[in-house]
Amino acid sequence: MAIPTSLSSEPLVLPSVLSADFSRLGEATAVVMEAGARLLHIDVMDGHFVPNITIGQPVVASLAPVVHAAGAFLDVHLMIEEPDRYVEDFARAGADGLSVHIEACRHIHKTLTTIRELGLSAGVVLNPGTPLGAIEEAARHADFVLLMSVNPGFGGQSFIPESVDKIRRLRAMLPPQVPIQVDGGVGRDTIGAVATAGGRWLVAGSAVFGAADPAAEFRALSAMARETGSHGRLGR
Ligand code: DX5
Ligand code: ZN
Repeated sequence: MAIPTSLSSEPLVLPSVLSADFSRLGEATAVVMEAGARLLHIDVMDGHFVPNITIGQPVVASLAPVVHAAGAFLDVHLMIEEPDRYVEDFARAGADGLSVHIEACRHIHKTLTTIRELGLSAGVVLNPGTPLGAIEEAARHADFVLLMSVNPGFGGQSFIPESVDKIRRLRAMLPPQVPIQVDGGVGRDTIGAVATAGGRWLVAGSAVFGAADPAAEFRALSAMARETGSHGRLGR
């Protein structure tokens, strides 16, 4: 099921389970759902597109019922080569949003269209070194744009400061209804600048699951994002 557009109107924190205890993923998911998370972010890595290997369809399929029972949505970030080979599998596993890297897609229009035809929200992702111009056309066929603020592959990296200006420039480039997702190094020190620049779906892995109390940290970050990011309308 696609992610409702009503979830794009104010800044939201998306917990990324990459930094959770993998032996207790269901429990970690339930904790952030109870704290009010509306979108859960899952990082799929193949050891080719990025140096790390993480999780695949079976884990997504196991977590999907936990997320959906809470009335929330599952956002799956594919950091893999040849994502076209797997979009159907992840749709079947219960993903609601599926994002693919512009750097990994030879026929991005076709990939985004296929994701939409499967009834999911389609996202296009840019690495920090990829210029915004690379998605000028693709963005017309995407439901959201994910801007990486670290080089993908690992949780717990430092936010690349130039990302703030890139978010601002991307915001000016996109139609107002298309939310910008920001992923990497988002935490107490950076979330204000990210939300103010126009970030709406703010992924936080280590900041949430590395905290002593993930639920409390999720709520604190959500409040900070709303305070700094919701004064203007979407699209400013
Ligand atoms: C990085 C992943 C992120 C990761 C972010 O390649 O795409 O989603 O979980 O982790 P933090 O929030 O720790 O930077
Ligand atoms: Zn991610």
